[in-house]
Amino acid sequence: MLAKDIRQKYLDFFVSKGHKVIPSAPLLPENDPTVLFTTAGMHPLVPYLLGEAHASGKRLANFQKCVRTGDIDEVGDDSHLTFFEMLGNWSLGDYFKQEAIAWSFEFLTSKQWLGIPINKLAVTCFGGDKDAPRDAESAAAWKKLGIPEERIGFLPKANNWWGPAGQTGPCGSDTEIFYWVGKNNLPPKGSNPANDEANWLEIWNDVFMEYNKTANGTFEPLKQKNVDTGMGLERVATVLQGKKSVYDTELFAPVLEKISTLAKVSYEENKASYRIIADHLRTATFMAADGVKPSNVDQGYVMRRLLRRAIRHGKKLGIDQDFTAIIAKKVIHLMSEIFHELNHEEEILKTIHDEEQKFRKTLTCGLREFEKVIEAMCEKTLSGQTAFHLYDTYGFPIEITQELSREKGLEVDVKGFETAFRKHQELSRAGAEQKFKGGLQDHSEISTKLHTATHLLQAALRKVLGDHVYQKGSNVTAERLRFDFSHPDKMTPEQLSATEKYVNDAIAANVEVLCETMTVDEAKKSGAIGLFDKKYGDQVKVYTISGWSKEICGGPHVKRTSELGHFKILKEEASSAGVRRIKAIVS
Ligand code: ALA
Repeated sequence: MLAKDIRQKYLDFFVSKGHKVIPSAPLLPENDPTVLFTTAGMHPLVPYLLGEAHASGKRLANFQKCVRTGDIDEVGDDSHLTFFEMLGNWSLGDYFKQEAIAWSFEFLTSKQWLGIPINKLAVTCFGGDKDAPRDAESAAAWKKLGIPEERIGFLPKANNWWGPAGQTGPCGSDTEIFYWVGKNNLPPKGSNPANDEANWLEIWNDVFMEYNKTANGTFEPLKQKNVDTGMGLERVATVLQGKKSVYDTELFAPVLEKISTLAKVSYEENKASYRIIADHLRTATFMAADGVKPSNVDQGYVMRRLLRRAIRHGKKLGIDQDFTAIIAKKVIHLMSEIFHELNHEEEILKTIHDEEQKFRKTLTCGLREFEKVIEAMCEKTLSGQTAFHLYDTYGFPIEITQELSREKGLEVDVKGFETAFRKHQELSRAGAEQKFKGGLQDHSEISTKLHTATHLLQAALRKVLGDHVYQKGSNVTAERLRFDFSHPDKMTPEQLSATEKYVNDAIAANVEVLCETMTVDEAKKSGAIGLFDKKYGDQVKVYTISGWSKEICGGPHVKRTSELGHFKILKEEASSAGVRRIKAIVS
């Protein structure tokens, strides 16, 4: 069964159970300042898990593209990826444990759907602690469906609990479903993932989100009980195809094949480098499609690190020509039927190619410098100064220097590197996706305000500059809003102050922010602006600030404009060709 068939079957199955299919949200969370990337299907849905009504109803199904770089050092083995698709079904205060478990079971085991033999499956449930009870209900549900007791393990919060990467917000216990990947065809008596972890591969996680973790660490019951499930598409494809590795599936094999036409050494003897290149360039391609540009901060830094690492591994394989765009093109070819954002091929390839050219200029010299330094070294730790020199002069992300050092049995003084780095500039990038301590909860009020301000800003720009202005990107953090829009020229000081004035006038008018649910067609007819593309389900929410702004959007927003206080533009600059960027605050 190919990945595309699994994806389709999954959606069909949940539609047959009354779910509406919603499209994958972008990799860049638009209004969640707690993460750099969408790391799970829940990020775009947090407001709805907290009780906001979703335009498509209470039962949703989707395939969400996700980026996680927490396990980046594991990439190269059989199963780890930095970009993956998560198939999910959602109950927003509708069904709960019984239905979620019964449907997971039916989809996995029924011959009409995936037809996995029951004796290859095992599950784990939450073992209970001071915050929440042992999940006997889920265990009983599995048993009733035919999972034997010996295949049901109980594990603590570290394993069977799920919440957002930001430390606060909706969360709850989960029950996880595993597939047998041990040596023998079938698992031995008594084996389950709680006592025999290495031989079981997690394929699906049903999360029962019934708590809100608050900033002081307590777990409060949510207004509604939700279900958030996540099934790893690549992993399920691997096991259903009887393959040993995700890289053996049709999602990666053609990419590895392409790499082998450029490399001077074989895949069999250099699996890790081949796989790192395939994985990292796939991720970078999707990042570029969502508008990320390599840089030294935030998302751009993560992308730069992936690209540079892939290029460095390319060099290990003897690839001395520019190759990243060739591989990215292959990825686009494989995935663009499902992910239409990949259709901006030229732009994506240019972004990736430009970064390669930049890095290639310094890579060889940098590697030479590295060799020279370690030859002269007696100690086992590369100094922070040297690591910073490699970063500053040759563009080596610290992680590449660490990897190079590891290959030589050396360590790097990372603290020393950070000190040297800070001396030169504010350390503004985040090491992993998680960006701020705290989480959505702490920032939700300011994010909501900035989100409403973004609507007013777009309306203002269209008024001041003209109707050619439309949104090219939007991102809200706890500190500011950032809005990218189509416009060819730098804005004049007069245009900037007219824009600010429009927004502040709307705030002063203290208008109610109205939310209505309607079809895309009705929204169009009503004059709402927004991206009328596949991004939305059939039903959409339209937010109206009567007389000022009307826009399709998922929300949430403030109730009245006066809540915004005062709006101020901090900066107007070029983002890319024909696209300007504004950063602004409310206070
Ligand atoms: N949000 C859950 C996960 O990522 C389903 O595992």
